[in-house]
Parts: sequence; structure tokens; C-alpha cells
Amino acid sequence: MAKRRDKSKKKDKKKGKKSRRQKPSRAERADRYALYQKSVQEPSCDVEFFERAFRDAYARGPSVLREDFCGTAAICCEWVRSRRDRKAIGVDLDPEPLAWGREHNLAKLKPAQRRRVHLVQADARSSYDLPADVIATLNFSFFYFKQRSALAEYFRCARENLNDEGILVLDMVGGSEVLEEDREEITEHGRFDYVWEQHSFNPITADQVCFIHFRFPDGSELERAFEYRWRLWTLPEVRELLLESGFRRAEVYWEGTDEESDEGNGIFEPAAEAPSEPAWIAYVVAIK
Ligand SMILES: C[S@@+](CC[C@H](N)C(=O)[O-])C[C@H]1O[C@@H](n2cnc3c(N)ncnc32)[C@H](O)[C@@H]1O
Repeated sequence: MAKRRDKSKKKDKKKGKKSRRQKPSRAERADRYALYQKSVQEPSCDVEFFERAFRDAYARGPSVLREDFCGTAAICCEWVRSRRDRKAIGVDLDPEPLAWGREHNLAKLKPAQRRRVHLVQADARSSYDLPADVIATLNFSFFYFKQRSALAEYFRCARENLNDEGILVLDMVGGSEVLEEDREEITEHGRFDYVWEQHSFNPITADQVCFIHFRFPDGSELERAFEYRWRLWTLPEVRELLLESGFRRAEVYWEGTDEESDEGNGIFEPAAEAPSEPAWIAYVVAIK
């Protein structure tokens, strides 16, 4: 995850003279991982979805989850909480979110639950001695692989890291609005605003740069709390590559629409056709 750039600190430096010690701003006191989790993650919905998608494929329940690109391992923790026989492996390259996850997420688990979570600082393409029933790669993390060959290698490794019966679950974003340079402010969090900035998109390579910023009622701002430099892959590209990498099937689960609000209703069902919505999020489930 990207290093934060705290605007309010920069302003203080510019003054260039000793100032009376002021109360730190909300941005200075903020914990970017806590804000991230509140803004963009819903582990209980993901866990419910993994269970359903695995049952759709194999008519039984899964027990081992591997969360690739796990960050703070929020989904691993929800997984072991959901059933006593479940184990989770979280894999991330960056020691910082892993340490945060240990201190804040794993610490909230009961000791017996905590013993069923294994966090590994490693590349998502590496293997671990416990094969998984479900591998989850969420919040578009596989978009980091910009070259076709690199993404194919990741899919082949993920397939190897699954049990004979196993699924790889990816989420994807798309639609015409996603290609635009844009800032979307979401104020529903009350104590802070979450800002998603689509900073640039290169149609020649499909490379995109995005930032997450957080704003606070005292006027302070945590600018570029997270940054993403990735490729916007399309559903057909990804499905083809999954099949080429050895998966038997690659299903798209499309979100239904709430009739009253005309917004997504959070219920994802297998689909072969979908309306051309300006912005959508879908799961792709690859079946071994
Ligand atoms: C977008 S965050 C996803 C966090 C979390 N999984 C979620 O759903 O919100 C991406 C994470 O991928 C990690 N990462 C990037 N490249 C990686 C790689 N090759 N192998 C493992 N982790 C990687 C980063 O350190 C970062 O924590």
C-alpha cells in the first residue's frame, strides 16, 4: 500500500517559524488503515459470497481460505470467525499492513480463532504448504499485474495453490465512468469523507492511476492516503486468460439492481449477459 502524504504537515513546514504547539489535526491523528477498512471493505458479505460460489461449484462448504494481496487480513479474520473448522492464510508483500492487521484485526479474535490464521509476507505467486478451497483476490488487486504474461503466471500459481476442488474469486470494476478522470466524494461515513480519485487513464495501455483521500470535519485532509497504479482489465480478457491458465470455467456473478433506488442491491448471481451500466462491480469465479 502507498505511503501517505499528509497535507496538513506540509503546510506547517512551509510556515518556516516556530509556531505555538497546536492540537494535532484529525488528519494527523488518523489511522489510514482503519479508515480504509471502514470505507471499502465488507468482509462479512465477501465471506458469504465465497461460501455460496463454492457451493455452486461443488455442492459442499469450503474450509480453507487464502486471501492473496490481503493487506490487513480483514477477510481472513472474518473467515475464521464464521466457522470453527475454518483456516485462513493471508499473503501480502508489504509488512506494514500485515503488522497493522496483526495488531488490530487478529488481536480482536479469540485465541483459538487466531491460531487458525497464518499471515505470510510474500509475493502472491508464491506457494504455501496448506492448499486452499477458496483463493480471494479482492479490491481489484490483480490489476497490479499489467502484462498479460504476469497475470497468466499469477493465475497458474493460484490454480496450483488450490485443492483439487477449489475456486479463485476475483472482483472487477468497469463501465464508461471508470475510464474518466474523476473525483467521487462519499460522505456517508459521518466522521470523515472518503474520496476516490480516478487521476489518469491511458487508453493505449489501459493503465490507470487512482488515489484515496480522506477529509475531516476540522478541514484537515489525508491526501493520497493510498495510491493505485494498475491496468484496467476487461471481463472477457480475464475470463479467457483464466481458461488459458488451466481453470475449467470462469463465471461472472453480476450484481442485481434495487428497484427503488436503482442502485446495486449487493446480490450477485451468475450471468452471461448484463446491461451496459456506467459503473459496475462484478465477481469472477474461476473453477479448478
Ligand atoms: C488494493 S490492496 C488490497 C487490500 C485488501 N485485500 C482489500 O481487499 O482491500 C492491495 C495489496 O496488495 C499488496 N500487493 C501488491 N503486489 C503484491 C504482490 N505481488 N504479492 C502480494 N501482495 C501484493 C499490497 O501490499 C497491498 O496491501
